[in-house]
Amino acid sequence: MAKDKSVKELEDLPGIGPTMAEKLRNSGYATLEKVATASPYELSELLGISAENAKKAVDAAKEATNIEVQTGTDALEKRKAIGRISTGAPGFDELLGGGVETNGITEVYGRFASGKTQIGFQLAVNVQKPVGKGGLDGSVLFLDTEGTFRPERIEAIAKAQGMDAKKVLDNIYLSRVTSTDQQILTAERADKLVREKGIKLIIVDSLMALFRSEFIGRGALNERQQKLNAHIHKLQRLADMYSLAVYITNQVMDNPGMLFGDPTTPVGGNVVAHAATTRLYIRKSKEEKRIIRLVDSPSMPEGETVVKITPDGIKD
Ligand code: GTP
Ligand code: MG
Repeated sequence: MAKDKSVKELEDLPGIGPTMAEKLRNSGYATLEKVATASPYELSELLGISAENAKKAVDAAKEATNIEVQTGTDALEKRKAIGRISTGAPGFDELLGGGVETNGITEVYGRFASGKTQIGFQLAVNVQKPVGKGGLDGSVLFLDTEGTFRPERIEAIAKAQGMDAKKVLDNIYLSRVTSTDQQILTAERADKLVREKGIKLIIVDSLMALFRSEFIGRGALNERQQKLNAHIHKLQRLADMYSLAVYITNQVMDNPGMLFGDPTTPVGGNVVAHAATTRLYIRKSKEEKRIIRLVDSPSMPEGETVVKITPDGIKD
């Protein structure tokens, strides 16, 4: 098909008037390129139009934009631009190839009290450090689904690094969500906050707790997975659009089909498995020691490291 020369801005897309174009811009779809890479499903949710019409708009945006082929060298340059948040533990950073990446979702799963939330606290502090000092000079959006956010822990971790604890707390935007609808909407509406507050890290602690408690039984599984899928895609889009890191914690269950080895399996099924760019499994060892295993990563080999959860935060 020939390139559609008449589509130059959002308003030129079929079915998109000035109001919808404004809505798109406010939600981070500021350019035709962004619309071209959007999923029709999300667009239909956002604009309140049918998926079919949303697809027409997306297709027209694709037609109108030059999706250029890039060389491997270009791709390498882009990879170099990816930011990293230090975990505070050199061995852990090394396992991750330098720290928790922006433009992707990093998932940590493990049993209760394994340290998933503590890692989140550490990252919420570290991301505020300057670029080049382990941080991204950014602030944090913290979705707390379990009521386990502890400002005094943040204070302790910040002070241990000689940071101004009040400033650090001021840069954490906490959203205590108690239903999946709230959880989904908070992410849906995060664009403005992300832009205005310079959010460089979004934490969802935990991703699945509310989904698990609200959607019970086999009959609800389909709906749960659909909503979950849309939610995670929104998180991924935020990560891409604003070059930020997304850190999610996840619960586990025992896989009854596993006869040998560790039956511990993250919940959320394929939807979560496919969406998480980097997956980590954390488990308790002696006392304050924790074993962290890199289970899945696009660029790093599988491996393990040991960290300690200390009063001052995560250490090697
Ligand atoms: P769930 O949310 O229950 O699934 O667990 P989680 O994996 O999020 O565990 P969390 O990160 O809350 O870790 C809890 C563990 O961290 C505790 O059992 C302690 O071992 C450790 N911990 C929590 N607070 C402190 C603290 O102030 N000092 C030290 N040294 N350890 C702490
Ligand atoms: Mg927790």
